[in-house]
Amino acid sequence: MRRALRRRAYPSARNRAAHASTAASPPGRSSTLPNTTDTGCDDVGAEDLPAMGRIGFIGAGNMAGAIMGCLAKEYEMMASRRSVNALRALEDQYDITTTTDNAELASSCDIVFICVKPQSAEGLMSELSGVDFSNKLVISILAGKRISFFTERLTNCTRVVRAMPNLGLLVEKGATAYAVSDACTPEDEYKAHILLNAGAYAVKVEEDEIDTITAVSGCGPAFISYFLKSLEDAAIRHGLGKEIAQKLLFQTVLGTCEYLRTSDLDYDGFISKVASKGGATRAGIDAGKREGVDEAISAMVDAAIGRARELGK
Ligand SMILES: NC(=O)c1ccc[n+]([C@@H]2O[C@H](COP(=O)([O-])OP(=O)(O)OC[C@H]3O[C@@H](n4cnc5c(N)ncnc54)[C@H](OP(=O)(O)O)[C@@H]3O)[C@@H](O)[C@H]2O)c1
Repeated sequence: MRRALRRRAYPSARNRAAHASTAASPPGRSSTLPNTTDTGCDDVGAEDLPAMGRIGFIGAGNMAGAIMGCLAKEYEMMASRRSVNALRALEDQYDITTTTDNAELASSCDIVFICVKPQSAEGLMSELSGVDFSNKLVISILAGKRISFFTERLTNCTRVVRAMPNLGLLVEKGATAYAVSDACTPEDEYKAHILLNAGAYAVKVEEDEIDTITAVSGCGPAFISYFLKSLEDAAIRHGLGKEIAQKLLFQTVLGTCEYLRTSDLDYDGFISKVASKGGATRAGIDAGKREGVDEAISAMVDAAIGRARELGK
């Protein structure tokens, strides 16, 4: 599966400036969210933003596709996976080069995103054993796998970013945390931040925080969908139509998040605004507490963290 490589112009000065301003103010982020100028790269101005070179994605599935969708217009990209049909579809969608040969991709890209499932990572490392990574920046999105997993297995690989994105990227409302290896330069960090911040709120964290972040924002879209489905099922059980239930629930989530994000009230303060003594909301929350909703949610997070750690072994 090869096509002649189509050269893409690197981002123009204007686009670079646009990227830099996106980094300072990602889509949908209000001033109450953390400020991502805290990237450790403040000394790199928009005019200094280096060209990214070719960006490769090994394991071009759901999450890689979502990241590629946010980067496709600006960067020269290449993707690999085993399914030739899926690669053809990607070529049509994004005007990119594809291959089924992961080593070929890694050899010919400057930044290599690793996006296979954690269970496939060990096999992939063997496939990449002949590639010299000394001039490459690796960005892994694998749950559980630590930076040292890559530096210990890939030849001359020292510059690694470990990221945990989420599928909010599909609508340019992603949330991505990332940690960097000691060998990453300020320029590497800045490049990673620009790429991960496209279509997302991206923030640099300590690597030890990432398993917890996996359980919160990485798994979060599924957890929140699970909670919404339970609410919707209950509403339908009581005779409400699915369409109206969904519309009201989606708008309720948007309104709640927007309020919490922009006001000074914390969760309990906001709950007490809705749940007055003796009212319907208070009755519902009391029932949730009696039935162990807090414990159940806590167990979900504990289980996800535990599984992420197992996958890292
Ligand atoms: N999904 C999420 O919400 C989410 C969130 C945060 C992080 N992540 C992380 O993102 C990674 C990918 O998850 P995903 O949900 O995108 O999974 P996915 O859709 O299954 O994507 C993984 C892709 O890897 C490809 N693949 C498997 N073995 C390969 C190999 N040896 N060489 C090249 N490609 C290979 C598969 O395609 P072929 O079968 O065609 O090879 C598949 O499309 C995981 O490590 C996960 O921890 C996912």
